[in-house]
Amino acid sequence: MRITVTVDGTAYTDEVEPRTLLVHYLRERLGKVGTVVGCDTSNCGACTVHLDGHSVKSCSVLAVQADGCEITTIEGLSRDGQLHPVQQAFHDNHALQCGFCTPGMIMQAIDLLADDADPDEETVRNGLEGNLCRCTGYQNIVRAVRDAASRMEPGSGPEAEQVAEQTSVAGGSRAEVRQS
Ligand code: FES
Ligand code: FES
Repeated sequence: MRITVTVDGTAYTDEVEPRTLLVHYLRERLGKVGTVVGCDTSNCGACTVHLDGHSVKSCSVLAVQADGCEITTIEGLSRDGQLHPVQQAFHDNHALQCGFCTPGMIMQAIDLLADDADPDEETVRNGLEGNLCRCTGYQNIVRAVRDAASRMEPGSGPEAEQVAEQTSVAGGSRAEVRQS
């Protein structure tokens, strides 16, 4: 089946098998290996990306279900060499050890902060309950998310910026189109 998706600001059109999982499409076809697979039971959250601005476990979505959608991965967060505030907060608060859970944690945290710009500790823990970390004990992750909240402007983030860019370009998106 033919799908067209926009991933980290670039449009792609590809033929995929109906059974292809979104995470496999992102990693194996597009080379977005920052999005990782940590389980085969949809439990770990390591594969979390944003689909039309909301976090999803990309191992539980078929690539064909993402047809026509806008996807943001961990690789689409930085701007002009600057880490996203949540990425920076994870770094500054030592919120990772092996780093395997980190891409999914960060994507989920950004979605959480879009819903609640100033979450308390319980809200952060509840919001991240679908993302597992086997290293850190979560304390510094929670601290990082709350630190990030204090650094972020409401409505900031890659999706908001992409919307602003697209609105400012007459006639539509500046995204490149790749076909295969
Ligand atoms: S790889 Fe574990 S939830 Fe997706
Ligand atoms: S830092 Fe190792 S799994 Fe979270």
